[in-house]
Amino acid sequence: MIIRDSVDSDLNALVELHREAFGETEGDRVARLAVELLQDSTARPLISLVASVDGLVVGHVIFSTISVEGDAERSGYILAPLAVHPAFQRRGIGTALIRRGIERLTQLKADYVLVLGNPDYYQRAGFTATHTILPPYELDYPEAWMILRLNQDGVGETKGVVRCAKALCWPELW
Ligand SMILES: CC(C)(COP(=O)(O)OP(=O)(O)OC[C@H]1O[C@@H](n2cnc3c(N)ncnc32)[C@H](O)[C@@H]1OP(=O)(O)O)[C@@H](O)C(=O)NCCC(=O)NCCS
Repeated sequence: MIIRDSVDSDLNALVELHREAFGETEGDRVARLAVELLQDSTARPLISLVASVDGLVVGHVIFSTISVEGDAERSGYILAPLAVHPAFQRRGIGTALIRRGIERLTQLKADYVLVLGNPDYYQRAGFTATHTILPPYELDYPEAWMILRLNQDGVGETKGVVRCAKALCWPELW
């Protein structure tokens, strides 16, 4: 398995991957989100990584930039979406994509990463609940809103509501 930056010619494979991983109810919506984020100038800087096995795209993650109202100094990102093809799950590929993304964000001197996802899964990568940086929409499961601090000095005082890329500004995604 190798992890690399996605390229334009991956687009169809990424759509298929997200459809397969998220299934009938969510698949189309998440696939559309991935495509829109990749084309969204308000999402940049953006990191888009694919996991590939024998030339086949089996995993994908995007980290896109966010800001918090009233806090222009710190650099934050949001992890979404993340998918691993069902036939390749539980082999550490999702974890490897998250780790590689975090390495890249650390190189970029990002202060923190947010995610909305299953706490049991993301806690393994070091994410914890946050109550000071607020999501842009009300959540059905507030405990699923988490942060990973990359710079311990950088995020202590950050408080406020997140502004995401346009592609993420749909209540049904939250
Ligand atoms: C969630 C997902 C990305 C995990 O990818 P993966 O490559 O299988 O994950 P890893 O192999 O790194 O980690 C697997 C471990 O995480 C756990 N895990 C996997 N998916 C989980 C989930 N949705 N919730 C909680 N734990 C989960 C498994 O129990 C497994 O642990 P174990 O093997 O010790 O039992 C993948 O299952 C997926 O694409 N699911 C569908 C789409 C999705 O839910 N994306 C995440 C949105 S937040």
